[in-house]
Amino acid sequence: MMQLSYNHKTCESVILDRPSLFNMDVTLLGLPLLLKGDNLQWLSALYQQKAKLGSIDLIYIDPPYATGQQFTVGENRVATISQSLDDKLAYSDELQGEQFLEFLRIRLIWLRELLSEQGSIYVHIDYKIGHYVKIIMDEVFGKQNFRNDITRIKCNPKNFHRKAYGNVKDMILFYTKTNDYIWNDARETLSEEDLNRLYKKQDTAGRFYTTVPIHAPSQTRNGSTGQPWRGVLPPEGRHWRCAVDDLETLDKTGLIEWSKTGNPRRIIYADDARRKGKKRQDIWDFKDEQTINYPTQKNGDLIASIIETSSNSNSIILDAFCGSGTTLLEASKLQRAWIGIDISALAIETTQKRLETLQLLKPSYTYLEDKNCYDSFKLNKAQ
Ligand SMILES: C[S@@+](CC[C@H](N)C(=O)[O-])C[C@H]1O[C@@H](n2cnc3c(N)ncnc32)[C@H](O)[C@@H]1O
Repeated sequence: MMQLSYNHKTCESVILDRPSLFNMDVTLLGLPLLLKGDNLQWLSALYQQKAKLGSIDLIYIDPPYATGQQFTVGENRVATISQSLDDKLAYSDELQGEQFLEFLRIRLIWLRELLSEQGSIYVHIDYKIGHYVKIIMDEVFGKQNFRNDITRIKCNPKNFHRKAYGNVKDMILFYTKTNDYIWNDARETLSEEDLNRLYKKQDTAGRFYTTVPIHAPSQTRNGSTGQPWRGVLPPEGRHWRCAVDDLETLDKTGLIEWSKTGNPRRIIYADDARRKGKKRQDIWDFKDEQTINYPTQKNGDLIASIIETSSNSNSIILDAFCGSGTTLLEASKLQRAWIGIDISALAIETTQKRLETLQLLKPSYTYLEDKNCYDSFKLNKAQ
């Protein structure tokens, strides 16, 4: 296995042997759960109650990115670099290099332990540190569980003065715990322009359509997709796209077009394609809003789409770096239970204010605070 080597990299078993400093059953208090404090403490505490917790099927995290910056909020603005002495600190992103990677890796190991067998994790990160994080993710979740490196278009083009291309993207690394994971296929609307461009043929009834091959790469001779159909085998090195019985049904229902030279192709109608939409690809355009409540606040639609694709209505959604609570808000709107953790007082305050704006859906949630970083708790049941 390829591994990232750096100083002071702790062995996994040592990390997981570390006892939780919290000795309380957080599950007794019920979900949703908003937790203030270092997520390392809370994750190990949650792990102790894993059996009672329910199924954490989706984790989205947007941790610090090792930018070396302090993220602040002023009277009327949210800033990335402290600009006024009166600004309030939202969070500082000061860990660098191997210290940052180890900080994240330790938390990823705990997150993997908490994730259900049918679960997915999405890690939002930038292009500067993201490639190191990809290797750490391969180590922790297994290369075989890597699904996508999603390019997210985060803003409109910028007029950089430096000698380099403008940066308008960040990345989201998508992994699953196993091969058998929740997947509600994400579809996008096909534009009329695409439909007109792709579905140019017209049948006798006036319906627009296109045709696609009925065979696909890679050879198989054992299953039905490798058997002869109408006395003909799939072309060399290819297999039928469906079983020969299904090809027969398609032909009987008029969904195979035969060329003059006897070459069969499958018919796809434009109206069917419009209804089904097109499969979402790995470049996503979800720009962050201009007016935000918290520095680095992410686009809610982006997170809603992840929740819809990778969780079910009975799933628990966990965000261990929840910031202004975007994930928690979207999870509430989609009626999922959630757990949110953040160490910053301002993040928790912003999250609470944003949750209050969810008029009808206003979720009742449990709030716990690790006041002195480990020993005392302030508990209140928010309505
Ligand atoms: C990039 S921001 C998350 C923004 C969030 N996605 C949103 O939409 O608002 C990262 C957050 O991680 C939090 N954080 C950093 N270290 C943490 C730790 N050890 N435990 C919990 N939260 C932490 C910061 O306070 C910050 O709010």
